[in-house]
Amino acid sequence: MERNNCPVIAVTNQKGGVGKTTTAINLAQALALQDLRVLLVDLDPQGNATQGVGINLETIQGSVAELIRDRALPVERVIYKGDGLDLIPATPLLSRVEREMVSMTNAELRLAQRLQPLRSQYAIIVIDTPPTFGPLMNSALNAASQLIVPVDSSYFALMGIKELLAEVDEIQRGTNPRLSVLGYLLTLVDPTNIAGQTWDTLVLNFGETVFETKIKRSVKLRESPALGKTIFHHAPESSGARDYLGLAQEVMERLGIGEVANLGKDTRPALSVVTGVAHE
Ligand SMILES: Nc1ncnc2c1ncn2[C@@H]1O[C@H](COP(=O)(O)OP(=O)(O)O)[C@@H](O)[C@H]1O
Ligand SMILES: [Mg+2]
Repeated sequence: MERNNCPVIAVTNQKGGVGKTTTAINLAQALALQDLRVLLVDLDPQGNATQGVGINLETIQGSVAELIRDRALPVERVIYKGDGLDLIPATPLLSRVEREMVSMTNAELRLAQRLQPLRSQYAIIVIDTPPTFGPLMNSALNAASQLIVPVDSSYFALMGIKELLAEVDEIQRGTNPRLSVLGYLLTLVDPTNIAGQTWDTLVLNFGETVFETKIKRSVKLRESPALGKTIFHHAPESSGARDYLGLAQEVMERLGIGEVANLGKDTRPALSVVTGVAHE
């Protein structure tokens, strides 16, 4: 039987604080609200995405680090089952494993290989990436079919993109020729000229690849990670929730996977995100 490979979207930018984790979590949840089976993979040793969906790092028994390190580990052991949204978490162990990767065979292809069998089980896989180039970032670039590049609306925002695209080009020439940019996403948007200028420059450089949806700066979005809740659980009526539903719609359109049914007023999801219990 033909195996169906779902899209694997890595949310990438080697600059920290641009909204990668916020985007990975809330896009994943917004897609899960469309009745899609979504897997969120946390690939940052800081575990911000993991904590952001309500998992306490100290309770984690299996994570993406073990998945990369131990070929014999069944992938199910590191999947935390949620309501529509499942998670492969990350803990600080991942920084040790990243250092070990220099002596592992095919280290930077392992994540792709480990995720491959899951691509027939989910409608979409979203990877949150660390804010540095290196073996983990390369693992994400090899595992991904497409990238979403969040760009914060600051004066210096665009400077790193060229560098990122050079890395992407390298990966395309080598191990992942089909990798492409699904879209550039303007984040942390204030009602200032700077945001407008960043937007204009983005569009000038990347045209329609820039998502029409912009993510506005919002207190609710900033509050929600500390509560271990996505924006849809913390403030489903907020502008942040609307922005991320809009992004989900554009992402689904670009990927050709269905309609967003949930753009109306009632965007309230079921209550639990991830249960915190690793699946046996
Ligand atoms: N749209 C937003 N409005 C307000 N705060 C935001 C928004 N997006 C992200 N933040 C906050 O900015 C900080 C950096 O965002 P984060 O998603 O962690 O970036 P990254 O993963 O790229 O380092 C976090 O404190 C986060 O809560
Ligand atoms: Mg992050």
